[in-house]
Amino acid sequence: GTPESKSKVMVTLNVDGFDVTVPEGTSVMRAAAEAGITVPKLCASDNMAAFGSCRLCLVEIEGRNGTPASCTTPVAPGMKVHTQTGQLKQLRRGVMELYISDHPLDCLTCSANGDCELQDMAGAVGLRDVRYEAVENHFTPKNTAGELNRQWMPKDDSNPYFTYDPAKCIVCSRCVRACEEVQGTFALTIEGRGFDSRVSAGAASDSFLTSDCVSCGACVQACPTATLQEKSVIDIGTPERSVITTCAYCGVGCSFKAE
Ligand code: FES
Repeated sequence: GTPESKSKVMVTLNVDGFDVTVPEGTSVMRAAAEAGITVPKLCASDNMAAFGSCRLCLVEIEGRNGTPASCTTPVAPGMKVHTQTGQLKQLRRGVMELYISDHPLDCLTCSANGDCELQDMAGAVGLRDVRYEAVENHFTPKNTAGELNRQWMPKDDSNPYFTYDPAKCIVCSRCVRACEEVQGTFALTIEGRGFDSRVSAGAASDSFLTSDCVSCGACVQACPTATLQEKSVIDIGTPERSVITTCAYCGVGCSFKAE
């Protein structure tokens, strides 16, 4: 869920009735995992600093107001955390409903079917129905009659190794952070607000191919949906058997997979 703390100072807290002792600086999310409790999440990952953008990992902490994100909240001695109250379950379903209302409902034919964290989390929070209408028109210009063009934004297929599909993006920023924190390239950013938010490969370029992207694959590895996906996976599916190695190209250790 979130990176490990290296502190030697230990802190004991209680999560859903279980006492757990973890290094100071550990997130509540990671402490819950140590106690065997999985908190739903989309934007957190083990190898990047917590960002707190998806709001799925909300918890209740006795004596504190509100429902803080467990990925960005550090543990404290004697803290009593609840991760599965009725209020939290309702909030998470509400958040997930908003994500899915703005997402293509093509799971059965999507190349990430069965390997998609958004799909997994929708199931984990118990989402059954979406009450809101799809906003398929964002990013697309009005036609000459001034009507909104109800089509998803087109994919960027320019990179030889992966595609970028803005319609499937949940703006979790994992790709942007992987580009910065894992690869150190700073090629990606989020531009726009609300429904217009999208991953951009730089204002000076109009595609991944002409951007500063070095095709290291860190962003593709970090993406929880089919937004950034290897072309080989789209064409032939996820390999059933793979060997993980580090190629000689840059030595970053991006887990290049060879069948
Ligand atoms: Fe905590 Fe996304 S996992 S806000």
